[in-house]
Amino acid sequence: MKAKELRDKYIEFFKSQGHNHIAGKSLIPENDPTVLFTTAGMHPLVPYLLGEPHPGGNRLVNFQKCIRTGDIDEVGDATHCTFFEMLGNWSLGNYFKKEAITMSFEFLTNPKWLGFSPDLLSVTVFAGDESVPRDEESAGIWRSLGIPEERIYFLPRKDNWWGPAGQTGPCGPDTEMFIDMGKEACGDNCRPGCSCGKYFEVWNDVFMQYNKTEEGNYVPLTQKNVDTGMGVERTIAMLQGKETVYETELFQPIIYAIEQKVQKSYGTDAAVTKSLRIVADHIRAASFILGDEKGVTPSNLGQGYILRRLIRRAIRHLRKLGAEGKFLGQLARVVIDIYKDAYPEFLENQNKIVEELEREEEKFSSTLQKGEKEFEKLLPNLLKNPKKIIPGRLAFTLYDTFGFPLEITEELAAENGMIVDREGFEAAFEKHQEASKMGADKSFKGGLADHTDKVRQLHTATHLLHKALRMVLGDHVAQKGSNITAERLRFDFCHPDKMSPEEIQRVEDIVNEQIQKKLAVTQEVMSLEEARAEGSIALFDAKYEEKVKVYSIGDFSKEVCGGPHVENTGEMGRFKISKEQSSSAGVRRIRAVLEE
Ligand code: ALA
Repeated sequence: MKAKELRDKYIEFFKSQGHNHIAGKSLIPENDPTVLFTTAGMHPLVPYLLGEPHPGGNRLVNFQKCIRTGDIDEVGDATHCTFFEMLGNWSLGNYFKKEAITMSFEFLTNPKWLGFSPDLLSVTVFAGDESVPRDEESAGIWRSLGIPEERIYFLPRKDNWWGPAGQTGPCGPDTEMFIDMGKEACGDNCRPGCSCGKYFEVWNDVFMQYNKTEEGNYVPLTQKNVDTGMGVERTIAMLQGKETVYETELFQPIIYAIEQKVQKSYGTDAAVTKSLRIVADHIRAASFILGDEKGVTPSNLGQGYILRRLIRRAIRHLRKLGAEGKFLGQLARVVIDIYKDAYPEFLENQNKIVEELEREEEKFSSTLQKGEKEFEKLLPNLLKNPKKIIPGRLAFTLYDTFGFPLEITEELAAENGMIVDREGFEAAFEKHQEASKMGADKSFKGGLADHTDKVRQLHTATHLLHKALRMVLGDHVAQKGSNITAERLRFDFCHPDKMSPEEIQRVEDIVNEQIQKKLAVTQEVMSLEEARAEGSIALFDAKYEEKVKVYSIGDFSKEVCGGPHVENTGEMGRFKISKEQSSSAGVRRIRAVLEE
């Protein structure tokens, strides 16, 4: 089944169930400063989920363009896309669990629609916790539809709760639907949500009955809503039996055009395949942002900065593949051709899309060449550094003198088995800002937002994680790098082995214990020597200024750091390690999130 057929079927089915087909909205959220882009189909509907009457009524259906940039550096693997389309149906205080689940079941299993055998369906429901009860009601509805007990999984908040795009807003327990892909279970703990590939998550029905307030309280909403989401790219890849979204008709024409240009083929070499995917993903996302009705152009702030980053990363990978000259405009025309029927705004804005891409391409190509040359000159010396860390000051010089974005220095570093001292870069950046009294361009902080509450929380979580890792793995654990966006933290540290699931669990438990203790976070200024004498962790043997800031979290952790941090760990959510992997020889990388 092609994407067009899936969209059409979804809309037709829900129209037959009394839903109104409403248009998708801009990628740029209206009146929501908490996020840069629309991240889910529910996002433009927030006011209506909170009670405002929707002009289209209280049963709605649509497909919505979305962008998630949290994991931009993971694009190129099989599953992460920057841009994606989400199918969704909503009840605004109209139907609730019974109807929502029954309709989902019908759409998934009736041969007129997707036609999956009910035997392949497993579901998860919310297991309940201290503030919200176990969702027996949803489980009962699934049972009544014939899903046997052993395929109904009760899972905790981290799996079966859907929160708002930003910090506050409508949220609630959800039920997720999984298709069994026919593979062997990877072990006794293999269940829906496992990453081994046995279970494919096809749909999510969220029962939005709460509003999360700024104080972190869950206040019941006056109306009970349903919000559902089905990703178009992933679902058609699964329906077509393709390994990844990149093998579907939404990406293939783009990849084919690049293959023709560079005379290299997808699937023959891992690095080539990865670069082809990155270019295809980024040109698609950049075209959608440029073609959006709200009109964003490349800049150094906010959405414009993300756009610039996408374009520049695409150019770099095109050069890596061997492409020369202008090419992005031509690729954008392929993207427009794929989407012009579903998203007519594309055709209206096609000249703007092509012109902006060509302008950025021209501007950046010579910068890239000069910067890469400079990096190559520095490389032999950098490789002599046994710690394999590129000093932040150097990364800053590349940025400041050659206009070389930090992310590209980081990517080049990674390709040579090194990491960049990002904190050192930020320190140099801030120093430069103070010196020249330029306004703040905080887009360089962690690549996305600035000191939002989430960033503070994740910063404090990083200290807790660092200490917990030392407790569980040993004192050889030392920070090698850290990167925080509004969505997640990333932490690189020395440790020779892959962490076991038990070790990961213990680290999570320790961090969560400290969060629950509501520890005060305090700050003192002292000399580096004093800080060391007091047992503070100080990173990288760096040359800190004479006086340093030391942040203490209760009696649990003490670390030299520039901040910012929360005032009390009680302000943080639940800490969860989402990934543990190798970063380079002897260095592990953890990604972790704070869940609401
Ligand atoms: N808002 C829900 C999601 O994005 C449906 O998964």
